[in-house]
Amino acid sequence: MKVLVTGTEGQLARSLAERARLHPGIELLALARPKLDFEVPGSAAAAITEAAPDVVVNAAAFTAVDQAEDEPERAFRINADAAGEVAAAAAQAGAAVVQLSTDYVFDGQGDGPYSEDAPVNPLGVYGRSKLAGEEQVRAANPRHAIVRTAWVYSPFGRNFVKSMIAGAATRDRLTVVDDQRGSPTSALDLADGLLAMIEAGAGWGETYHLAGAGEATTWCDFAREIMAQCAANHLPAVPVEPIRTEDWPTRAVRPRNSVLDSSRFEEAFGFAMPNWRLSAREVVERLAREAA
Ligand SMILES: NC(=O)c1ccc[n+]([C@@H]2O[C@H](COP(=O)([O-])OP(=O)(O)OC[C@H]3O[C@@H](n4cnc5c(N)ncnc54)[C@H](OP(=O)(O)O)[C@@H]3O)[C@@H](O)[C@H]2O)c1
Repeated sequence: MKVLVTGTEGQLARSLAERARLHPGIELLALARPKLDFEVPGSAAAAITEAAPDVVVNAAAFTAVDQAEDEPERAFRINADAAGEVAAAAAQAGAAVVQLSTDYVFDGQGDGPYSEDAPVNPLGVYGRSKLAGEEQVRAANPRHAIVRTAWVYSPFGRNFVKSMIAGAATRDRLTVVDDQRGSPTSALDLADGLLAMIEAGAGWGETYHLAGAGEATTWCDFAREIMAQCAANHLPAVPVEPIRTEDWPTRAVRPRNSVLDSSRFEEAFGFAMPNWRLSAREVVERLAREAA
């Protein structure tokens, strides 16, 4: 089965490339700029037609949440219109499409974990553009799966785990918000789940949540777990002090609660996401090994 991934250097694209080696039935092909450029209308369609895949995983996105507030047209072009073009080109090529989406489609006012059917109400441009992408993909290709994930980290690219490790190397303490709750997700686990879904070859026409399992946490508690693993792996570790969102102003408003319930995915594909603490431990261990 030929699987085309959009983007090559993103956290998920790199995780898919690594984990696909464990799936001999899957031939993975990844395309990035300049050949596939979401800011150029028609570019995605041309690349997909030429590659003739069985499944397209649209992992490329404008993920800079704060920057999106200043560049809404670019965010909508990349996250919505290009996603729709990818889905339509996949349909034209007879391929299914997996569209990655985000917990930021929710406003965070709900109490418990969000199910796929919970009402959406994004608070910022990034969330609105990703929600528009979901809608365009649903309309363009009946063989779609919308997969919402959250708080993604990995050994690759830029992410919260790497920022905390870097911060501990230069500061004597870290201050991290303690009033936003969510589901930290290893991109490697996300890749494993997506590959299981693609191999199953079923479940199209649905929206799923796929995020790290275990108890809901805050950015502050997540940072403390990262520091504990740094200490265990001989990396600099410093105390983490809680602050409120109001003390850390950002351009984009984030949801206070964006914990995702991934049980629909587990029931559909028999794939359970690992506990986020175990996965965070693996990523910190790997980063420590690579830094040694
Ligand atoms: N990161 C998170 O915390 C998070 C949370 C929820 C949902 N998600 C969603 O999960 C998916 C994967 O996220 P990620 O963390 O892997 O993202 P990432 O590390 O920021 O990577 C984004 C990718 O998009 C590509 N890209 C950006 N602009 C492009 C353009 N104009 N044309 C073509 N490619 C372009 C980049 O290309 P290059 O390969 O050229 O660098 C890169 O591969 C995204 O759909 C994101 O919205 C992420």
